[in-house]
Amino acid sequence: MTVLAGRTGAINLGQGFPDTDGPSEVIEAAVAALRGGENQYAPLGGVQSLREAVLEHQRSYYGLDPEDVLVTFGATEAIAAALLGLLNPGDEVVVLEPYYDSYAACIAFAGARRRPVTLRPPEFALDIDALQAAARPRAQVLLLNTPHNPTGRVLSRSELEAIARVCIEHDLVCVSDEVYEHLVYDGEHVPIATFPGMAQRTLTISSVGKSFSFTGWKIGWCSGPSELVAAVRGVKQYLTFAGGTPLQHGAAAALRLSSSHLEAARDELRTRRDLLCAGLTEAGLQPLIPAGTYFVNADVGSGAVEFCMTLPERCGVVAIPTSVFYDDAGAAPRLVRFAFCKREDVIAEAARRLARLAGSD
Ligand SMILES: Cc1ncc(COP(=O)(O)O)c(C=O)c1O
Repeated sequence: MTVLAGRTGAINLGQGFPDTDGPSEVIEAAVAALRGGENQYAPLGGVQSLREAVLEHQRSYYGLDPEDVLVTFGATEAIAAALLGLLNPGDEVVVLEPYYDSYAACIAFAGARRRPVTLRPPEFALDIDALQAAARPRAQVLLLNTPHNPTGRVLSRSELEAIARVCIEHDLVCVSDEVYEHLVYDGEHVPIATFPGMAQRTLTISSVGKSFSFTGWKIGWCSGPSELVAAVRGVKQYLTFAGGTPLQHGAAAALRLSSSHLEAARDELRTRRDLLCAGLTEAGLQPLIPAGTYFVNADVGSGAVEFCMTLPERCGVVAIPTSVFYDDAGAAPRLVRFAFCKREDVIAEAARRLARLAGSD
């Protein structure tokens, strides 16, 4: 879709990356590291200042005290290395669908099978019975993502309690992808590791990309019990070993910014979410207002794939059919995902263009 946007000159609301940089202090910290000789391999675990900053972050935001932390090439590498490190061929992974596309690929790399628990529109609520049913004897890992891409849902405390119960009852490791942890507009993000009995079985993953608008840096991390982090480290050693040393220094500076930076960024994104949702409504589409992330899904009233293929020509906007994130392609046939992590003027222009759809067919 990004290629299609480039070719047609359409506004790309398909892929989730911001069109502005994150805080300049963070860029300056990375530049200082570049100029200051921080240009060789980082230690396998990551540069010390970032490892410490992650631990401080987990402590100060959530009261968590993980035993170990590992820096990775974005959350994506942490997810891949975790699944490769924790799974054996034939194991099963309980995973909420729709899901971020690397999940299915990495589960397959490990020779494991996914057991999806389907979140269905319009609420995308967790079906506890389906969750219980998915946790069969071969399940080893529950792969969680909240705030959730692509639905924009932030799982509630009671849903997370149910997930924790299932993990404990079936002795599952929870791999928790929390890359949107600071992008919550309604409600709050509660890390699953904070639930009783979960810190010792949860590997928490995040990155600098979404929270601080540096998606191109690909600096991520995982934290949790030593044994789980060691399993990830053992794989990461032979995937990339280490990378992005100066950017790791920048990421440490990002995590040490005052929380007001994150709050301001979140408030700006909420404004853009509301602007895009208003535009979608005006265009005659039905946005399902997301509580978090970069994304809003809208019910377009007809086949989403066809809608997205013709959207660039019809009004100069690119978006993605949400069905591509489901195994069950029939679960959301009319839903389209739009990203609102773009400048306000870009979102306003996209809304103007989408308005052309109103009454056009
Ligand atoms: C749910 C989810 N996890 C992980 C990632 C990737 O994170 P990173 O860029 O840090 O590898 C994304 C990016 O879109 C995502 O949506």
